[in-house]
Amino acid sequence: MTNNLDVGPVFHPSEPVADLVLEHSAIPQVLRQHHIDFSVRGHLSLQELCELNGIPVEVVLNDLERAVKQPNHNPRTDPRDMSPAALMFHIVARHHSYLRDVLSIAVGLALKVERVHEGRDFPLKRIRELAQELRSLLEPHIEHEEVILFPALLENTLTREELAREAQDSKIDHERTAALFTVLRQLTLDYTPPEWACASTRGLFHQLEGLEADTLEHVHLENFVLFPKIAAAHRARAAST
Ligand SMILES: [Fe+2]
Ligand SMILES: [Fe+2]
Repeated sequence: MTNNLDVGPVFHPSEPVADLVLEHSAIPQVLRQHHIDFSVRGHLSLQELCELNGIPVEVVLNDLERAVKQPNHNPRTDPRDMSPAALMFHIVARHHSYLRDVLSIAVGLALKVERVHEGRDFPLKRIRELAQELRSLLEPHIEHEEVILFPALLENTLTREELAREAQDSKIDHERTAALFTVLRQLTLDYTPPEWACASTRGLFHQLEGLEADTLEHVHLENFVLFPKIAAAHRARAAST
């Protein structure tokens, strides 16, 4: 993105979406609304992702430019300026703790809503199953990061082969996570509660939407900021020995 004082921010459709996301805190929401995945496909350009999704790139560009002209209520430190250690601390403190809390709330609400609204013409059972699948996938995933992976990265104890294996395992989990949220977004009609929704159903949809937003940003940070920094540091150390 470049800033032009006369016409405002200008986005380049050829820029990788993972980089666009880092430019302004309003961008991830616009991309999610257009079902453009930046968490695991962020290496692709906006043009490529729009073509894959069958969306005119001009529509997304207009929405992005409108969103970034709004006052930024959520300014943040650019994670690219953070050290790997600071990034890992931020990921655990902000994203992992949120994920644990909200996954637990969401699964509880999903069970309740499925029970209370049994017989409704809405895929509540599948939504509950997806919430449980996310929990089964992500709780061990973040536990592994906190207990095994991040300490090993901090202490630089992994061989190149071990690092490659860890990166591959993470990639598989991250792709499964993004795929589960894609289905969840479709089933909940973009997290729009049905007209019969009670407070618990509205709460469930609200928690799931927040969970998607936070988790996709968390995965994007690991895939496109943390792991590349770690790999570059590893290469630099290998070149100097
Ligand atoms: Fe994580
Ligand atoms: Fe992760």
